[in-house]
Amino acid sequence: KEALDWQRTAFHFQPSNNWMNDPNGPIFYKGWYHFFYQYNPYAAVWGNIVWGHAVSKDLINWRHLPIAMVPDNWYDINGVWTGSATILQDGQLVMLYTGSTNESAQVQNLAFPADPSDPLLVEWVKYSGNPVLVPPPGIEPQDFRDPTTAWLTPQGKWRFTIGSKVNTTGMSLVFDTVDFKTFELLDGVLHAVPGTGMWECVDFYPVSMILENGLDTSDNGPGVKHAVKTSLDDDRNDYYALGTYDNVTGEWTPDDPKNDVGIGLRYDYGIFYASKTFYDKEKQRRVLWGWIKETDSETTDIQKGWASLQAIPRTIIFDKKTGSNLLLWPVEEVERLRSNKMAFDKVEVKAGSVMSLDVDSTSELDIVAEFEVNQEDLDRINGSDKNYNCTTSGGAAQRGALGPFGLLVHTSNDLTEQTPIYFYISKCKHGKLKTFFCADHSRSSKAPEVDKAIYGSRVSVMKGEKLSMRIIVDHSIVESFAQGGRTCITSRIYPTKAAQLNTQIFVFNNATDADITASLQIWQMSFACKTRFSLLLNLI
Ligand code: FRU
Repeated sequence: KEALDWQRTAFHFQPSNNWMNDPNGPIFYKGWYHFFYQYNPYAAVWGNIVWGHAVSKDLINWRHLPIAMVPDNWYDINGVWTGSATILQDGQLVMLYTGSTNESAQVQNLAFPADPSDPLLVEWVKYSGNPVLVPPPGIEPQDFRDPTTAWLTPQGKWRFTIGSKVNTTGMSLVFDTVDFKTFELLDGVLHAVPGTGMWECVDFYPVSMILENGLDTSDNGPGVKHAVKTSLDDDRNDYYALGTYDNVTGEWTPDDPKNDVGIGLRYDYGIFYASKTFYDKEKQRRVLWGWIKETDSETTDIQKGWASLQAIPRTIIFDKKTGSNLLLWPVEEVERLRSNKMAFDKVEVKAGSVMSLDVDSTSELDIVAEFEVNQEDLDRINGSDKNYNCTTSGGAAQRGALGPFGLLVHTSNDLTEQTPIYFYISKCKHGKLKTFFCADHSRSSKAPEVDKAIYGSRVSVMKGEKLSMRIIVDHSIVESFAQGGRTCITSRIYPTKAAQLNTQIFVFNNATDADITASLQIWQMSFACKTRFSLLLNLI
């Protein structure tokens, strides 16, 4: 019981109980961030899906509001599924969402606020002419869901995209509209990739190659690339690619066909799905929400009475240094929770050693760490592990010449439960280095049904950059970011021993031939008192 209670988070978004999945319709409206989500009000498993709703001033402290929409018409009686918000030029807010009908067909419906002058948007009205869109010819009734936020075309129409598939080719259909009531299906698709299966929760947005800030969904022009993201139903991961959007045909072409949507880059190499971005006009940034499921058994979810979290919202920008990927980073507001900073400067960690860091309480932390590998060791090694791969490796126990090294979080004193988050460097014969960022869950919990996989991927390290990682720890969720968010890994961790207070953070270096130096800053995240304070602020 104690271990299960410990799993609930302190500063991640989660409803008080029951099941949650996809983020829906995130938006900044009349001074408030609004967040809607797929929610089962009756149980800690998926089903009876309604739209939960909460508001915030800072994306961290949330005020939970009444359920926004429930299944109450033939066109959504099987579930009020995922959708997105669009703010029209006159400031009007429209919501398009997928309804699962009385026959389990997927149709698109329109909803709007009952009182647009209410900044909390408590009441929602469904359009009397729903459904506004049904699956077009050639599309199966169960392969047509999750409309995106709409963007303006040069012809002055609103355009959006909806994920689908034909046989095993995943794709995204494109529609134009002027009133969100009648629609025109474009001839071409936004994009299609054979073999990727159903595309859920497609997202499409511009990123600036020049500016630091995010772009509104309708922005386009020189210096702009467009990202397409899909959530692959078959393998439950969020893939994205960068490319060029043709605003006449509505089609998008990837920069690098080898890294196309669904086969190349991922937002996160851990648990992260059904994500959705929105443009935050208040802070001129693009913010990403992502659903983080549980990785223990359904029986445990039911025992706990809740299942799933949302990741801390992440800002998304184009990585100007590599020119080929996005950078994902927790919104700056989470740093307001930092307190009691501890610093460890240039700690030397010899090859093959583990060192405990003297940190009082380790369930709620923000950790920033930099690692330097001894240059002589790097130069001396003559080719190692050229085919390294995080997921098929032996994890942190597999020793190589230049790795693994990093941190152990949620680790019991006797090290029998531990979660290593680490770098691993391989060196080819010609001297080229490849760096990997991985998280090893094989010993994260003694509970038998917990997922014990090893996650991770390669991470680019540019000239002059140190190896850096940031790890946000909040009980059973750990979000890890390497090289400023070039590679991210979200973990769910359910220690049975560490949960009993006696947990520690360690620095480890399991390389056989390289000494490292680690510098760390570690903050306690103090939520409770700050929450009370901000609630007070909300009242006055
Ligand atoms: C993704 C998803 C969506 C659907 C919703 C239903 O997790 O399957 O495609 O709209 O969840 O809850």
